[in-house]
Amino acid sequence: MAVLPVLTYPDPRLKRVAEPVERFDDELRAFVADLECTMEAGPAAVGIAAPQVGRLQRLILVDVSSRPRAAGHGRLVLINPEITAWEGHVVGREGCLSVPDYTGNVIRAERIRLAARDAHGVLTEYAMEGFEARVVQHEIDHLDGLLFLDRVVSRRADLRPRGGRSPAGR
Ligand code: NI
Repeated sequence: MAVLPVLTYPDPRLKRVAEPVERFDDELRAFVADLECTMEAGPAAVGIAAPQVGRLQRLILVDVSSRPRAAGHGRLVLINPEITAWEGHVVGREGCLSVPDYTGNVIRAERIRLAARDAHGVLTEYAMEGFEARVVQHEIDHLDGLLFLDRVVSRRADLRPRGGRSPAGR
């Protein structure tokens, strides 16, 4: 397993739309292992998307279990994820491994339903809420070439240099 270099804003590869995964093979699973390693190496990271390491495929990892108050499903490999339902909206502070110097407030759906495949191609449906739902929405944005900077409530009033406080998403 290897820690992969993470692309940072304004790398143009972060603006591209990722392609669906079609082959669920050993090469894919080796990449997932490297991506897990990369997420664990990131400061306080709770999610990562394949395009952040330059692989333009629809694959994200999410793990909010390090946040004591965040209910979640543990470590998830979510491939070709599709949000099928949204409910409510809530403002929360986000950061990103690809935007290391800033955090910002972003409006996200409070509850979502999600369908995604695992590294063996098995399709699962999830009901998610709160912080885990926020992280999933943030990571799926990476698959569509969007950063939280593109959704921040107010760039001028709201974008802050990263301080000592831990942000609400990565
Ligand atoms: Ni991010």
